[in-house]
Amino acid sequence: MIETRFTREFNVQHPIVQGGMQWVGRAEMVAPVADAGALGFLTALTQPTPEALVKEIARTREMTDRPFGVNLTILPAISPPPYAEYRAAIIESGIRTVETAGFSPADHMPAFKAAGIKVIHKCTSVRHALKAESLGVDAVSIDGFECAGHPGEDDVPGLILIAAAARRVTVPIIASGGIADARGLVAALALGADAVNMGTRFMCTVEAPIHEKVKRRIVASTELDTTLIFRTLRNTSRVAVNTISNEVVEILRAGGEFADVRDLVAGVRGREVYETGDLERGLWTVGQSQALIEDIPTVADLVHRMVAEAEEIISGKLGPLVVAR
Ligand SMILES: Cc1cc2nc3c(=O)[nH]c(=O)nc-3n(C[C@H](O)[C@H](O)[C@H](O)COP(=O)(O)O)c2cc1C
Repeated sequence: MIETRFTREFNVQHPIVQGGMQWVGRAEMVAPVADAGALGFLTALTQPTPEALVKEIARTREMTDRPFGVNLTILPAISPPPYAEYRAAIIESGIRTVETAGFSPADHMPAFKAAGIKVIHKCTSVRHALKAESLGVDAVSIDGFECAGHPGEDDVPGLILIAAAARRVTVPIIASGGIADARGLVAALALGADAVNMGTRFMCTVEAPIHEKVKRRIVASTELDTTLIFRTLRNTSRVAVNTISNEVVEILRAGGEFADVRDLVAGVRGREVYETGDLERGLWTVGQSQALIEDIPTVADLVHRMVAEAEEIISGKLGPLVVAR
């Protein structure tokens, strides 16, 4: 067992988190993560309505007795989803841990705190981590530049970012982005983190509710097979390289605007990639950590193997490096 401030304060067996994943973070993903003793998050906005989220929470509870959380991603949108209603659905369902991401959690903190909910805010810079801490979050999850999804605009990789955050942040830190195995877990602990958060690695498990072809593509891919879209719009997102992401990059690089790529980047097309396994259908999110992924284990095998190998690295491999002279 590896015990950290995170495992104690969040009452989780292992210092491993499965962060929110649009279209992937459903009951089928989260329940086995909870059963394996890690902390999984349903993704609120994967559900079309707050009522559907309430049902998804209930469905997850039918699949596991262990606690799990809900991710609430706040992103710029022309017609934003009803965030206050999703928040109410989370609170009324009795969820005890929330992962916020995308934008400051300030508007949501009073209601979550009044309900006694622990909030982990996921961000991409030390300044945002400090800001979240000042708002009263219970932990920060910090995504390095390697991560799948939104790495922010600072382009600071996790090796620097986590260590820089650990110098200043006082609440527990969850290192996120680029972590897919025991080596990443041990490295994150060495940098000063109290746990790790993984997205891409959990996508590539037996239970992840996405098409087998997506999982096999992740296994076959390298660290070079992701690209950054929306750079010129300052809303960068790391996705898989395919014809659609290449086209989006080209159009924006040539001076195009969001309206010129709107149809290509439609969320529904990304959802169809996961449903049909047609890898060229739309944008799909994946991180550079796919380079480290060589198999499609069950969630339980993944979590238990990661912890066992991390213990072996710490006490078997690293311990003996220290010699008395
Ligand atoms: C398919 C996919 C969808 C994601 N969707 C979201 C999301 O909706 N909200 C969010 O906060 N993070 C989202 N993320 C980011 C993950 O929660 C996590 O921060 C990230 O995957 C960490 O990097 P890694 O993939 O290298 O482990 C997504 C990641 C993936 C792989």
